[in-house]
Amino acid sequence: MAQLIIGDKTYELPILEGKCGPNVLDIRKLYEQTGLFTYDPGFTSTASCDSKITFIDGELSVLMYRGYPIQELAENCSFLEVAYLLLNGELPNLDQKKEFDTHIVHHSLVHEQLIHFYQGFRRDAHPMAIMVGVVGALSAFYHDSVDIYDHKQRELASYRLIAKMPNIAAMAYTYSIGRPMVYPRNDLSYVENFLSMMFSLPSEPYKANKVLVDALEKIMILHADHEQNASTSTVRLAGSSGANPFACISSGITALWGPAHGGANEEVLKMLHMIGSKDRIPEFIARAKDKNDSFRLMGFGHRVYKNYDPRAAIMRQICYEVLTELGIEDDPLLQLAIELEQIALDDPYFVERKLYPNVDFYSGIVLRAMGIPVTMFTVLFAVARTVGWVAHWREMISDPKQRIGRPRQLYLGNTSKHFTSLYDR
Ligand code: SDX
Repeated sequence: MAQLIIGDKTYELPILEGKCGPNVLDIRKLYEQTGLFTYDPGFTSTASCDSKITFIDGELSVLMYRGYPIQELAENCSFLEVAYLLLNGELPNLDQKKEFDTHIVHHSLVHEQLIHFYQGFRRDAHPMAIMVGVVGALSAFYHDSVDIYDHKQRELASYRLIAKMPNIAAMAYTYSIGRPMVYPRNDLSYVENFLSMMFSLPSEPYKANKVLVDALEKIMILHADHEQNASTSTVRLAGSSGANPFACISSGITALWGPAHGGANEEVLKMLHMIGSKDRIPEFIARAKDKNDSFRLMGFGHRVYKNYDPRAAIMRQICYEVLTELGIEDDPLLQLAIELEQIALDDPYFVERKLYPNVDFYSGIVLRAMGIPVTMFTVLFAVARTVGWVAHWREMISDPKQRIGRPRQLYLGNTSKHFTSLYDR
């Protein structure tokens, strides 16, 4: 129990213990007892919920999905196995895996009319703009899976969202380059299907490179969930109002798009191209340190990781494997990134602030090498993170403590103003 002394009064605040990580001060009755709010812009010290899905220890570079270390999952699982784990709390046995994979395969097509939505976008629309619109529009087609209080409908909406995201994402790409959309194939794995829908041509057979498929499987596992990050918190908040699951996931896509969040992988590539050569690295390191310059070293820093992002270490290994397979291990952007990382990690500014490469630092280089266009990097992040968003949405909906999220504020605006007519102002 914690004691809070305000003036001549002492208040007792319960301390709730977690399985691991920081305990929490239960302030649910604070306002009722003291008339005070807490104040925490950016929620650096605030737990918005309790959860059993993902755990991060930023000091020890730990990331676990349902208690399994991310390194073991990335090395040994398929993306859909990890999706099952995040949704249900345990890795599937053989029968459960077959049933889950079958559900996903059989929901991978989208309503044929949904394809017409793409015609309304300019060909040069950012694919994330298309994702926000088309995913939100799914609620106009699947009325039999929007009742969030019906377990069966929640399950069906979960399958639909996870199954259709690769299809919707790939169509955003093929539409942008004027290529016919490619239907999913039931004989391909989830990741192979995505690559087939992205890159296969109606005029010739397509076979994805096994090394690239394995690499993309790992990359999607690394991006599947990450506790209460900005986009997941957005999905939870949208879901707390009772909004349908498709609208909630669309809100998550919107939040992920920001360059400080999921949009960083696209920004890393732009930054590396802007730096151009190793001799210009000092100039950009100086800009990143200059408080008067809005430039930040994209792919560096993290709200939680104050040590190396464990995903970045795996991503760097994947980077080597893919670029070696493609015979471009001496890719100038990779060499530039390695040099930039080394210089930054030796610089007191970054060391003092515990700014390390995050998941986005190397992902862009790998995805670019795989032929995925820069504007599709965050789209791929959204496809993978849909599993985490759906898992958190389901956990929030079935939490008996759940109520609509409604933060308060510290008001600093005008008081006791009175109306004056237009001609007297
Ligand atoms: C993702 O939350 C998640 O889990 C996100 C994510 C997920 O899987 O969902 O991990 C995915 O979003 C990874 C992060 C991708 N974003 C970037 O790479 C963009 C660059 N990074 C920064 O914008 C920043 O580091 C954030 C947004 C990631 C974290 O911001 P914080 O926690 O609010 O940290 P801060 O802005 O308060 O920075 C602390 C200090 C500041 O300097 P001082 O005021 O103390 O002098 O560090 C500086 C910042 O100026 N700083 C940087 C920097 N990041 C922080 N300086 C230069 N370059 C940077 N990248």
